[in-house]
Amino acid sequence: MIYIDNSATTPIDTSVLNTYQKVATQFYGNPGSLHVPGVKSYQLLEKARKQVAEMIQKQEDEVIFTSGGTESNNLAIRGTVFAKREFGNHMITSTIEHPSVLNTIAQLESMGFITVTYLSVDQNGVVDPEEVSQALRPETILVSLMAVNNEIGSIQPILAVGDLLESHQNVHYHVDGVQSLGAFPSIIPHDRIDLMTFSAHKFHGPRGVGFLYKKHGRTIQPQLTGGGQERQLRSTTENVAGITAMARALRLHPNHGNAEPLRQLLKRGISACDNIVWLSPTDGVPYINCLAIKHVKGEVLLHALEDEGIYVSTTSACSSKTHSGPQTLLAMGIEKKVAEGAIRLSFSDQTTSSEIEHVCEALKKHANHFKTVFQNH
Ligand SMILES: Cc1ncc(COP(=O)(O)O)c(C=O)c1O
Repeated sequence: MIYIDNSATTPIDTSVLNTYQKVATQFYGNPGSLHVPGVKSYQLLEKARKQVAEMIQKQEDEVIFTSGGTESNNLAIRGTVFAKREFGNHMITSTIEHPSVLNTIAQLESMGFITVTYLSVDQNGVVDPEEVSQALRPETILVSLMAVNNEIGSIQPILAVGDLLESHQNVHYHVDGVQSLGAFPSIIPHDRIDLMTFSAHKFHGPRGVGFLYKKHGRTIQPQLTGGGQERQLRSTTENVAGITAMARALRLHPNHGNAEPLRQLLKRGISACDNIVWLSPTDGVPYINCLAIKHVKGEVLLHALEDEGIYVSTTSACSSKTHSGPQTLLAMGIEKKVAEGAIRLSFSDQTTSSEIEHVCEALKKHANHFKTVFQNH
């Protein structure tokens, strides 16, 4: 089997799973309990927090553990909107954000809590920082942008937006970093970022665990109220096994490996097929690659590859079942017919060149087959 759908999720690292199992079975005390098992769990939890903080080069009390990317995005966005209601009700985002951002914002908008400026993207799937600057208003409370797009791998101008927000300190700057490990020299690439989202299952950690970086001094309203865990910001008994395993996964897999040679191999391997359209921008991250075979639906190609033990996705795992379509490609102005043919091949640090060679052979075979089919019709 060749698994090439790592932007949807990565396989859990065996040693990470061992950590999970060990903590779950041997350190099951509630970290809030006063007895010895509770204290031991608490110590593990705080050790994991320290490790994560070191990896992102921030302070321990700036790390809020959550259940993953979706919850971190919700906490950052809802938390800001509700905490800053007396200061304003306008926010800025882009049309190509993940549904956990866009649907959260749409709900807040429909309930009358905010007005939103949605920024368009250029033909490479990139927001123009100048448009961010123009959209800022006195009542703007939040800018929320993804660092790396999950469908095509375009890198957003996170640094440039950070620079321009230096003179707008009243605005919270949230970055969805779920797909961005390894895209920048540091995991949190700009000091102006106030909130940044991460999800463990995208870096060989377990599902259902992630974290939100929240800069000192920035206020957000908790969305889960209860026993006051995570410094009152996210109540519920902490998932110590998941969190400890995530900290290990982040230390073992802080990026997606050296994916550039793999991307080049893929591009070279299919270059002879004139009915394959490359859809990812050339300056995007090399571990997310989007392409289409002309006139062939992405779903058809996906299943044709599946029959050969090659697993890819149609742009994003979230949209594939809801049939919401390749929103980023459409926002880039790609023709609907072409966009609907898109598949995404996403690498991890475990993807090998021999796997990519195999994928190229399969793609070539299908491209040639479909070319003949369409020539004969
Ligand atoms: C950019 C982006 N943000 C958020 C998420 C949601 O993360 P999770 O699955 O941990 O909720 C994803 C998942 O694919 C993503 O790609």
